[in-house]
Amino acid sequence: MGAEEIKKNVYWVGAVDWNIRDFHGYSTYKGTTYNAYLVKDEKVCLFDTVKASFKNEMLYHLGQLIDPEEVDYIVVNHVELDHSGSLADMIKLCKPEKVFCSPMGLKAIQTHFHPVDWPLEVVKSGDSISLGSKTVHFLETKMLHWPDSMFSYIPEDKLLISSDAFGQHLASTERFADELPDGAALLEAEKYYANILMIFSNNVQKLLATVGEMDLDIDMIAPDHGLIWRHPAIILEAYDRWSQHTAERKAVIVYDSMWHSTEKMAKNISAGLRSVGVHARVLSAKSNHRSDIIVEVMGAKAVIVGSPTLNNGILPTMADVLTYMKGLRPRKKIGAAFGSFGWSGESVKILNGFLADMQCEIIEPGVKVKNVPDKDALQECFALGVKVGKAINEAFDAEVDGAVVAAED
Ligand code: FEO
Repeated sequence: MGAEEIKKNVYWVGAVDWNIRDFHGYSTYKGTTYNAYLVKDEKVCLFDTVKASFKNEMLYHLGQLIDPEEVDYIVVNHVELDHSGSLADMIKLCKPEKVFCSPMGLKAIQTHFHPVDWPLEVVKSGDSISLGSKTVHFLETKMLHWPDSMFSYIPEDKLLISSDAFGQHLASTERFADELPDGAALLEAEKYYANILMIFSNNVQKLLATVGEMDLDIDMIAPDHGLIWRHPAIILEAYDRWSQHTAERKAVIVYDSMWHSTEKMAKNISAGLRSVGVHARVLSAKSNHRSDIIVEVMGAKAVIVGSPTLNNGILPTMADVLTYMKGLRPRKKIGAAFGSFGWSGESVKILNGFLADMQCEIIEPGVKVKNVPDKDALQECFALGVKVGKAINEAFDAEVDGAVVAAED
């Protein structure tokens, strides 16, 4: 592994974390990278740093190109510690002339590091600095995904350094998305979007509109995690689609079960969906990680959730998944709930509460079964699947009709 030139005199100098498996509750089975970039111009400028424990890997990469004291500027596009964990040490080592950050970045730096004598300079959207032959334009990207987040754009290189946006948690020896098999980076970008950015989809739409209005000429997007996009249209189109909550003709059934009753219900609901031509994913909350479930939810038109009643509530596994799901704010979904119970039977009501919080269109009160479902109860579950499936089909048929009318107009 070494520093790698991604544009003339622009280098990746980050670090690869092959072994991380949990990132704030997100299962990072494939590791991640902390990308930092160095521009060698009349002014030498470092964009972001890396997680503290990876500082030496970044210093090794930097050392292949320059003496750290040659760094004139550091740009802090984002203060979260996976990118600023080495910042204090780098400032000590490099003694930069200036450290640039957004207005909210200044507040974040102050409250994270309590610096006394750092040469901080605040830059806002529309501000730019010259590095000599290259310039850096700044664009604040508040809540993508922190208040301080900022993009840096180098027009001479048509290069957008995009902080967390457009990233993937994916460790690799390669640096560019197109060096991996087709779709591999996009698959991880989708999981990253679902788990980190879906909640901010409105902001993503606004950002894409702003970038469009600015008419930025971009032929490379370099995020702070994962692979770099040399064909940015791929990831820009995907972000546009994901941020509009676009779904497939698909339902996701998320459930957990104590003695297989709720599981039997889940399987019969899926059979009902299948009978009307709707694809269903049946995901046990015990066997699937919350961060994988949320990817399936993002791409589905319906979310059907099931739990038996436990202690007047729902199973802890379902509470975990639903709390996580609700926080990420999936939208434009059809919802339904089901579950078995022994005596009190509150689970379906609680599950419907989560669905209502997610602004799901709840198309019926749900199916409750006492103890073990008999043939009639399983038929009721099948009918629930049919009902949800038909609602999905109607939603898609309405979209098609709308498109036909639009075409005729
Ligand atoms: Fe990769 Fe928000 O830090």
